[in-house]
Amino acid sequence: MIKKIETKSLKIGMYIHDLDASWMSHPFLRNRFQVDDQKIIDEVVGAGIKHVYIDTERGLDFEMAVPLELVQQEIADSKQQLAETQSGLIKQVSFESELIRAQSIVSEANTAVRGFMQEVRFGKQVEKAVVDEVVENVTESVFRNQDALITLSRIKSVDQYTYMHSISVCVLMTAFARAMDFDADTIRQISVGALLHDLGKMRVSPEILNKPGKLNMDEFQLMKRHVDFGEELLAGQSWMSELSLKVVLEHHERIDGSGYPHGLSGDEISEVGRMAAIVDVYDALTSSRCYKKSWEPTYTLGKMLEWSRDHFGQAMAHQFVRCVGIYPVGTLVRLNSGMIAVVVDQHEDYLLQPRVRLVFNEPLGRYVTPEDIELTEAVDSIADAVSPQKLRINPMDFL
Ligand SMILES: [Fe+2]
Repeated sequence: MIKKIETKSLKIGMYIHDLDASWMSHPFLRNRFQVDDQKIIDEVVGAGIKHVYIDTERGLDFEMAVPLELVQQEIADSKQQLAETQSGLIKQVSFESELIRAQSIVSEANTAVRGFMQEVRFGKQVEKAVVDEVVENVTESVFRNQDALITLSRIKSVDQYTYMHSISVCVLMTAFARAMDFDADTIRQISVGALLHDLGKMRVSPEILNKPGKLNMDEFQLMKRHVDFGEELLAGQSWMSELSLKVVLEHHERIDGSGYPHGLSGDEISEVGRMAAIVDVYDALTSSRCYKKSWEPTYTLGKMLEWSRDHFGQAMAHQFVRCVGIYPVGTLVRLNSGMIAVVVDQHEDYLLQPRVRLVFNEPLGRYVTPEDIELTEAVDSIADAVSPQKLRINPMDFL
């Protein structure tokens, strides 16, 4: 529940949902954050803010008279939970239960990324704390159930493409790094690089960035400079690790040497650079842009496997397919019975037999009451993935 309280009643352990003040009049980059030490309270009071809105589902309630020691224990417990998440001890949850949390993670990440990207346009630097919060939230969610955030981050409005693409690449790279069995700290560094991989685009003019059509040769040359711009913006930051930087610097390199900015080839490109190239292309192709319709994930993965020998390396491309699945959650499929269904869950060892939700009887041309079927236990099987645009069925309506 959201409650408005006087700033003087603010306590450690509360979660600020909104500051009752204009963005320009306080020193905080975000409006929503956990109050986890006295310094934050002092800053809110010091900024002259009289009231704040707290979210009692994410932090302590106003009426709760909780001793300070208990609050500090709660904070310690939540930090411990995060540590456990990142070391793989956290419990997996169902797609449905993670979807609700994932929605607010995407929305908060969108606000944060839009915020720091716009600040970079005005010559400011990216704040480590803002990046860390997005990466922590994404990592936790991916460890609980990666499909929720992967499915949601595919939805991009045309005007927010650059921000949402950064979040999507961060989500997919986090899931990919986890599937590759990297340790928690390496996963975090890869996620940071992924979130910032296109930061240099903020130094490219918006006319070129959002041009509704193909770029001409000169414009394309300018667009390609976003990698160098990203290096200029991030290489001097003490908190950017070498590994995070590699994700930024190598996401457009290709193993046959045809990429940019340095035309690196084969082993000259790091493992995380090749991972970033795959994820960046996959997300770009599966997203709608002002000049093109999105491709379906299954079709996209097939095309990427075709190109993998020259562009990404076949072994790496196969690893990525194993990570996202042949029929990722949200894919619309036609079963051999003629029923149209939406993929709602996957089984790591049976990628061709996911759990599906029947939604439409194609031979009869009518919708059916949604019903879930485990294809591992059914006689029916997937014939092919189908285009939601062609059938005019939006899979997201059934998730
Ligand atoms: Fe890029």
